[in-house]
Amino acid sequence: MTRSIDDAGSDTPHLVLVGLMGAGKTTVGYQCAKRLSRPFVDTDDLVQTAAGMTVAELFALSGEGRFRAMEREAVGDACASPVPAVIACGGGAVLHADNRRQLKRSGFVVWLQAPPEVLADRVGRGADRAERPLLAGGPVTTLERLAAARASAYEAVADAVVDTGDRSVPEVVDAVLEEYGS
Ligand code: S3P
Repeated sequence: MTRSIDDAGSDTPHLVLVGLMGAGKTTVGYQCAKRLSRPFVDTDDLVQTAAGMTVAELFALSGEGRFRAMEREAVGDACASPVPAVIACGGGAVLHADNRRQLKRSGFVVWLQAPPEVLADRVGRGADRAERPLLAGGPVTTLERLAAARASAYEAVADAVVDTGDRSVPEVVDAVLEEYGS
């Protein structure tokens, strides 16, 4: 599955992070961007800026369909950046085939993985959980279900897989950058 950055198929080989909620895409992505001296883009942030409200508010007010449409625009905008960037994608961005195509075409895609119980531990409480409307029904059960439902989409888009389960953030950053070839 692994390929080198030279095969990324674009003049703008972004480093793209995908994976379920709690995988560490934003935290790790930000640190990778710092190490690479590149801009960091988070598709949830792009959606929130465009909508003028939080993801949770957008879900509540306009529904998941509207969020996903805005997320597709955000992925398109992020991939269109003429400057190579580090792009953290919302956990469900890979569900749409257009997004998978765009991400694969313009970037080197790393799938951050961890067991559902670990993910739930990271995001299943307090503000983190409140910000993620899909977790309202119970983090572990939901993340197990999403892991099963989305595995093939992550698999299809990923150039490399990095396990984050029992690694610190700096260790994950090292592993991602090694896969990326930096
Ligand atoms: C979602 C993940 C969230 C956010 C939204 C939906 C998902 O982003 O995009 O709540 O469908 O998995 P993070 O993965 O950054 O938490």
